[in-house]
Amino acid sequence: LALPVGDEALATRLRERLGLVEDALAGHVRSRAEFVTEMASHLMEAGGKRFRPLLVLLAAEAGDRPDADEVITAACVVELTHLASLYHDDVMDEADLRRGADTAHSRWGNHVAILTGDFLFSKSSELTAELGADAVRIQAQTFTRLVEGQILETIAAGPDEDPLQHYLEVVAGKTGSLIATSARYGARFGGASREVEEALTAYGEIVGSAFQLSDDILDIASDQGESGKTPGTDLREGVRTLPVLMALASTDPADARLRELLDGDLSDDERHAEALDLLRKHPAIEEARAYVVAEAERAKARLVPVPEGPVRAALEAFADIVATRSA
Ligand code: FPP
Ligand code: MG
Ligand code: MG
Repeated sequence: LALPVGDEALATRLRERLGLVEDALAGHVRSRAEFVTEMASHLMEAGGKRFRPLLVLLAAEAGDRPDADEVITAACVVELTHLASLYHDDVMDEADLRRGADTAHSRWGNHVAILTGDFLFSKSSELTAELGADAVRIQAQTFTRLVEGQILETIAAGPDEDPLQHYLEVVAGKTGSLIATSARYGARFGGASREVEEALTAYGEIVGSAFQLSDDILDIASDQGESGKTPGTDLREGVRTLPVLMALASTDPADARLRELLDGDLSDDERHAEALDLLRKHPAIEEARAYVVAEAERAKARLVPVPEGPVRAALEAFADIVATRSA
């Protein structure tokens, strides 16, 4: 993810601060046991966009003490929580590739992957304690939402429930929550006013969900080289994401075959490949992209309390990038 910052001075500052976060993170994933350090640093060293830490740093710029040490700590907290959740997520999704590298469970087995996630989450919690009781409470509430979202994903929408609404609830829980908290922590520890903190949190929630919607579109539309993941993983796991839900809403008779495939077993390689191919050509992909662009606009509209200037412009560009990203 390139820094979406037009202002050179701000870009330089953020790059410097991101460097501090990166150094601190390398220390936080260390364990007394060498083997644990190897596993816990595996995903972090494989890459990653550091999207959440960047949002913490950027939101902190809306306050009057963006250089506070707590901002760096908070950036580490959210990235460690995110990392922890990825170890667990890859077990649940049976994903074999992330950030272009073998996933932890495919290399070391499920037990090790789960415990490494627990280790990272513990590290994150320990660090949150340095930020005080309110931060711990926010972190705990965020974690509750993450887990609820992730569990809800394994449960199909009820008969009286709108599947799109169900899916959006999953997305807000599993991804919107932690990205909202990233913006909140940044604003809070960077010394922003209460009003700005609330605005940035609302912005973060929408941008965060949009980030996941983009991710879900990329799961279908991108190839492995771009995403560093195996395409079609959601489909194989039977998770109906935005483009699939939009395609299923179509009444075009030409979609009969796609519908039949989507209603059947997609763990079969041939059926999976055919469904993926049909989806990639389907107008639902563009429809989903347009939906995400509209969400980015909605996020930007929440930025009104942030004074106009380079920081606000960067937050706007950040929302745009989320909606149009290709990796
Ligand atoms: C990725 O979604 C998964 C998440 C954003 C949240 C996962 C949350 C948990 C596993 C619960 C929390 C557990 C701990 C220890 C913090 P995805 O599978 O759609 O995205 P992907 O394409 O990146 O795999
Ligand atoms: Mg996954
Ligand atoms: Mg998942």
